[in-house]
Amino acid sequence: MNLKRVSTAVMALCLGAGMAFAAGEPQAERQALMKKIGGSMGELGAIAKGQKPYDAATVKTAVSTISASAKDFPNHFPAGSETGMDTAASPAIWQNMADFKAKAMKLSTDADTVLASMPTDQASVGQALQTLGADCGTCHQAYRLKR
Ligand code: HEC
Repeated sequence: MNLKRVSTAVMALCLGAGMAFAAGEPQAERQALMKKIGGSMGELGAIAKGQKPYDAATVKTAVSTISASAKDFPNHFPAGSETGMDTAASPAIWQNMADFKAKAMKLSTDADTVLASMPTDQASVGQALQTLGADCGTCHQAYRLKR
C-alpha cells in the first residue's frame, strides 16, 4: 500500500468514527430535535405568510413533529453534557431542571392543543404560530446561550 492509500484509509476511518460519535452525543441529539422543531416552524411560517397554500397534512405533520420533539428534548441533558460539541445550552438548565422540563412540556402541550382544534386556514395557522413561537422565546431567553 502506498502512503497516499494508507492516509486515505485512515481518513475514512476517522471520519466514519467521528460521525458515529457525533450522532450519539446528547448535544447532537438535542440540537437535531431543535432543528426539526425549527424546520416545522418554518413550514408553518410559510403558510402563515402566504408563501405556501394552506395544507392540512403539512400543518398536522409540522405541529405533531413539534409536540413529539419538544417532549423528547429534555431527555438529552445528562450530567456531563453541559459543554462540548458547540452546545448553546445554558448552565442554568442543570440548576433549574424542573422548570426547564416544564417549559419543554408547555411547548409540547400547546402543540397538542393546536392539533386538537386544527387550524383550517392561513389566519389560524398564523395564530398557532404565535402561540408556539412565544414558547420558543421564553425558553431560549432563559436557557439558550447567545452566540
Ligand atoms: C424548553 C426549552 C426550549 C424550547 C421550548 C425551545 N427551545 Fe430551541 N433550544 C433550546 C436550547 C437549550 C437550545 C440549545 C441546544 C444545544 O445547543 O445544546 C436550543 C436550540 C435551538 C436551535 C438551534 C439548533 C442547532 O442547530 O443547534 C433552534 C433552531 C431552535 N432551538 C428553535 C426553536 C424553536 C423554533 C422553538 C419553538 C417552536 C424552540 N426552539 C423551543 C431550548 C428550547
